[in-house]
Amino acid sequence: MRRTRTAILISGRGSNMFALIEAAKASDYPAEIVLVLSDRADAGGLALARLAGVPTDVVVWRGARDRDAFEAELDRRLHAARVELICLAGFMRILSGDFVARWRERIINIHPSLLPEFPGLDTHARAIAAGAKKHGATVHFVSAEVDAGPIVTQAEVPVLAGDTPEMLAARVLVVEHRLYPEALRQVASKVPRLDKQPTAL
Ligand code: GRF
Repeated sequence: MRRTRTAILISGRGSNMFALIEAAKASDYPAEIVLVLSDRADAGGLALARLAGVPTDVVVWRGARDRDAFEAELDRRLHAARVELICLAGFMRILSGDFVARWRERIINIHPSLLPEFPGLDTHARAIAAGAKKHGATVHFVSAEVDAGPIVTQAEVPVLAGDTPEMLAARVLVVEHRLYPEALRQVASKVPRLDKQPTAL
């Protein structure tokens, strides 16, 4: 079976990244994790990836004014690793419309809410404040608009009386770790082979 060459982009602890790496150990899994890339050298997930034997790389984010150079460098590293599909997993940078267009239908993200509810940050606190009875996580294709691309799959959790944002986040994270590997399985098996790399800058 041919496996889709997949990169995971992170900025932090990398628990979703780790769930994807674990899932991809199964010989019948349609994605192979060939690279973990972070915009921060101190992202905790980098050490986890190295321990798991996955190549890692860092492209340091130097601020919004530097975004074109940052994305050109991301593209270069992704092409060098012959990446066909990108999973954003706690990657805290907003990618430009041009970058997203170059990777159209080849870039997915996990977001901790039932989109279209609560795009953006602080989703758990906002769900509690809004009196939501249900909350959860979404895996979606990335589009130029933040947290708004076509949905691949979602998982729900209940919001319980007395929940703090931390309690709710922990309940959502458990389902994220199941949801993202399921979503990558679905997407990876449909991604066309990349004989020609996306156009570089
Ligand atoms: C997750 O809640 C994910 O949904 C969001 O950022 C968090 C990343 O956590 N996009 P981790 O780094 O995967 O542990």
